[in-house]
Amino acid sequence: MSTAFRFPEGFLWGSAMAGHQVEGDNRHSDWWAYEQAGRLPFRSGSACRHLERYEADLDLARELGLNAHRFSIEWARLEPEPGQCDIAALDHYRRMVAAMRTRGLEPIATLHHFVAPAWFTDRGGWLAADAADRFAAHVERVAAALAGEIRWWLTINEPTVYAKHAYVTGDWPPCVHGQWLASLRAMRAMAEAHRRAYAILHTHRADAQVGLAHSTPYVVPADPRRITDRLAARARDYGLNGLLFDLIGRPARRWLDFIGVNYYCRTVVRWAPRGRAVLLGEDDLGPRPGEARRFSDMGWEVWPQGLTEVLRALARHGLPLLITENGIATEDEAVRRAYLAEHLGALAAAVGAGLPVVGYLHWSLIDNYEWALGFGPRFGLFEVDYATQVRRPRATAADYAAVVRANALAT
Ligand code: FCB
Repeated sequence: MSTAFRFPEGFLWGSAMAGHQVEGDNRHSDWWAYEQAGRLPFRSGSACRHLERYEADLDLARELGLNAHRFSIEWARLEPEPGQCDIAALDHYRRMVAAMRTRGLEPIATLHHFVAPAWFTDRGGWLAADAADRFAAHVERVAAALAGEIRWWLTINEPTVYAKHAYVTGDWPPCVHGQWLASLRAMRAMAEAHRRAYAILHTHRADAQVGLAHSTPYVVPADPRRITDRLAARARDYGLNGLLFDLIGRPARRWLDFIGVNYYCRTVVRWAPRGRAVLLGEDDLGPRPGEARRFSDMGWEVWPQGLTEVLRALARHGLPLLITENGIATEDEAVRRAYLAEHLGALAAAVGAGLPVVGYLHWSLIDNYEWALGFGPRFGLFEVDYATQVRRPRATAADYAAVVRANALAT
């Protein structure tokens, strides 16, 4: 007879999305401007037409039995020109939140998910002296309108990932290459913006739950016996996982009610002090003795146990942990099913060990525009046929629904 691991009562089960990746026609955004100018390789265009189709998409979430939904409120729609407020856009999000409520989905709103109004980026983006003021004005506007309807907030999605792509690899707006210091300055500004947003949201709603979504790869040394690899891995782990908390300010509970955890993969680091010396190491993607390595279609290493480990490390902050993203880009459904099953196993292990995990949100409900990689990577529980906009459930969706409905995992 099989036994089952039961998740706590009220555990949040959901899926996650971000506006620009699904809505379509985000015309006043920096991404849109860079896409149209040919500075990005793919155009988001009408994406998944989620702006019009959100009710049907939320029906899909309800059909899976989910009780939470992560989405983003697009700053560029609300404030197309500096200081302007598009009331129709605000009403759109109000309707969308109401649609979540009627379907029993707890709304979890992200206020910045990689995308800003074009004017913000044109004026220096996160490097401008008034960046945090600008963001605070956006948060104030949203909070004044929607804090009554939304309790769970994520101020900013993955500041570390954004800063790297925007100012180091340069493949995301503002497409600046090799500027390590600029990326640090951007992160510092985002940390300040987070603190401002935290205060604003609590002014509007005393019981608000305010966090941010932090990208947390599981970082290990290529050869744990070599001190140089260990040092390189430790430096990388600090840069990717620890630094943000220092920038926000410790203790973390002063500025966070929970930590949003985006977990996808393992990063194996080998000492390599040349070139990008700041990192002191490079990714090791080669074979490892005694280990079969698996990679997603995007080259991210599948490493389920890493989820338990990063949750264990983050638990030291003494805050509730919400998995705000976890999923895989693959065309092979057997691979996706295994990924979900193994990561839910790692989640159950974390909860079973007493770590304070309050929910799990799968990335993503439907296939979508994967930033500079366009529509190629497929992350959805539902497949999207972009020619017809038809959504089709993948086998993984039924697997997920079974766990969610039971609030338990067969072991
Ligand atoms: C995360 C992003 C999300 C999505 C996934 C695959 O870094 O937050 O928008 O692109 O990766």
